[in-house]
Amino acid sequence: MSAEKKVCLSASKLAKIFGFGSHKTVAVDYVDFNFYEGEVVSIVGESGSGKTTLAKMLLGLINPTEGDIYFQGKKRDISSHRKKKEYWKNIQAIFQDPFSSYNIFNKIDSVLLDCIRMRGGGNFPQAKKVEMMTDACSFVNLKFAELTNKYPFELSGGQMQRLMIARIFLLKPKILLADEPTSMIDACSRATILDYLMKLRDETGMTTIFITHDIGLAYYVSDSVYIMEHGKIVESGPAEDVILRPKAAYTQRLINDVPKIYEEWDLSTV
Ligand SMILES: Nc1ncnc2c1ncn2[C@@H]1O[C@H](COP(=O)(O)OP(=O)(O)O)[C@@H](O)[C@H]1O
Ligand SMILES: [Mg+2]
Repeated sequence: MSAEKKVCLSASKLAKIFGFGSHKTVAVDYVDFNFYEGEVVSIVGESGSGKTTLAKMLLGLINPTEGDIYFQGKKRDISSHRKKKEYWKNIQAIFQDPFSSYNIFNKIDSVLLDCIRMRGGGNFPQAKKVEMMTDACSFVNLKFAELTNKYPFELSGGQMQRLMIARIFLLKPKILLADEPTSMIDACSRATILDYLMKLRDETGMTTIFITHDIGLAYYVSDSVYIMEHGKIVESGPAEDVILRPKAAYTQRLINDVPKIYEEWDLSTV
């Protein structure tokens, strides 16, 4: 990574331990990392390797057992509700299950209006708000006028994930954390969602942390890759180095498990 790149989010000796004694699970096992501004970082590992636990700590949804998180070089302080809300202007997430991400009683326009409010646009004239919501929806090829009176659960899984991206478009956080955002939608919508995520990154320059069990996908989208096994980061570096010249046996195994189609694709894109 070149010297002039700024570190956006980092952690030192970050750990999360659930339970006690013989029921203890070290979900995240004293990890260190530096994520740089504007880069797409993938965190790759099998189910149970600690990815979501790490994501929740980065988001401030659960407290680390040990270690520190730094945002833009300063130790993160989310000790009060107000500080947490400030932090969430900078980091936002898209989760695996789009159904769980919405309050079922909120219609789509109120979901989007909340984003405008969070960005300080609560007092904008109605016409301006409608224009912003229309733009955000058209960014992901949704028609705001057709959605305005609907509830999120009236949309398909793919449409809901696109709406999540429209939210991010309005919120413009410095960091987007996407935890397996395509694993519960069909293959066709999956490619579309990835394209929108990459388009969003290109337009906003935000740091994108992409969490996946699919190392082929990580190769396709990322600048840097972190490989997680049983809570530990076993290998990290530029995506090409890690995936084309893996050192850790675990990374090699993940690559061997990838369906053949990726191998052919890798060769044609390198
Ligand atoms: N709230 C919790 N209480 C106890 N154990 C948990 C909790 N959340 C996760 N774990 C355990 O931590 C480990 C990592 O889980 P998780 O972070 O969800 O992995 P991943 O997202 O990579 O599938 C697993 O062994 C899981 O059972
Ligand atoms: Mg998970």
